[in-house]
Amino acid sequence: MIKTLEWTADGVRFIDQTKLPTEEVYVTCRTYQEVAAAIRDMIVRGAPAIGVAAAMGVALGIQQSSAKDEQSLRREFDQISTVIGKTRPTAVNLFWAIRRMREKFDSLAGRPLPEIKTALVHEAQQMHLEDIAANKAMGRHGATLMPSSGGVLTHCNAGALATCGYGTALGVIRAAIESGKKIHVFADETRPFLQGARLTAWELTKDGIQTTVIADNMAGAMMRQGKIKAAVVGADRIAANGDVANKIGTYTVAVLAKEHGIPFYVAAPWSTVDMNTPSGDQIPIEQRSPKEVTHHGGKQMAPDGVRVENPAFDVTPNQYVTAIVTERGIARAPYAETLKELAGMATVTA
Ligand code: MRU
Repeated sequence: MIKTLEWTADGVRFIDQTKLPTEEVYVTCRTYQEVAAAIRDMIVRGAPAIGVAAAMGVALGIQQSSAKDEQSLRREFDQISTVIGKTRPTAVNLFWAIRRMREKFDSLAGRPLPEIKTALVHEAQQMHLEDIAANKAMGRHGATLMPSSGGVLTHCNAGALATCGYGTALGVIRAAIESGKKIHVFADETRPFLQGARLTAWELTKDGIQTTVIADNMAGAMMRQGKIKAAVVGADRIAANGDVANKIGTYTVAVLAKEHGIPFYVAAPWSTVDMNTPSGDQIPIEQRSPKEVTHHGGKQMAPDGVRVENPAFDVTPNQYVTAIVTERGIARAPYAETLKELAGMATVTA
């Protein structure tokens, strides 16, 4: 399995996703500030991977702290969390991970500092293991929804590279193929950062899974020609009513799927579900540099001074979502009720 990120004795090690698919390079972040930069600069990306990277960043910062008492360590925790919390606003997994680390710290109040430090490292490592277990469980649930054969469209990269391993949407596809289904993946290239062309195509072809890359504006034509039997994507945040924030362009895929009578599935771990956000309207959408749109591979594609929009994510209203696959099970409309039911269930442990 691809090692997207791992805790090492030297720091947090990432496969540098900005270099794929042409170079497989690994970078080790030796401070929490370096981890924060890796998240911001998308060396690591994808909601679940961002969450675990954030937890490891917190653990690293606390491990290196020279605080002499718990109160000072707690102040440092706040400082580290603030820096890491400012990296990317949409993937709720980032905030979920910081909260879980804080809860762990709180549960250790009064314990010796070395014990707190070790426990926080273990917590981050445990989150890494749980993420893979959640993906495997999602795969088992979601595989049942996949067609027995034919094309399945995905957008962005919701694979091993976006998680600690196996993937969410790509985990569902992997599990379906492992169960004998004959699936051919259509990967939207995913402008402007090209996660589909660069990352999804890289990890699927590495696994020997049949993959065709298409430019984003080809999806409708492929559906009309009957080449696509289902669409499955990941999510950065799922609101309590089932609205889904995911990579820009996901909404377009969902609308096209509905028009063509194709099921549109979302696969995400429970850490992506934000029951405190009532609907997609309240989800903060990250705006990224205009240069990602105006330039490609270092070459300028648009005139100087032209106005540019670059929202990194869009929101797909729940009425376009056929089902949401989580490690706890499959939710279908009405999501306000079915997600509430899943919220009460025990989480998958590693
Ligand atoms: O900007 P990115 O590459 O971090 O965006 C990633 C996505 O939109 C993924 O689809 C989402 O995080 C789910 S990953 C399992």
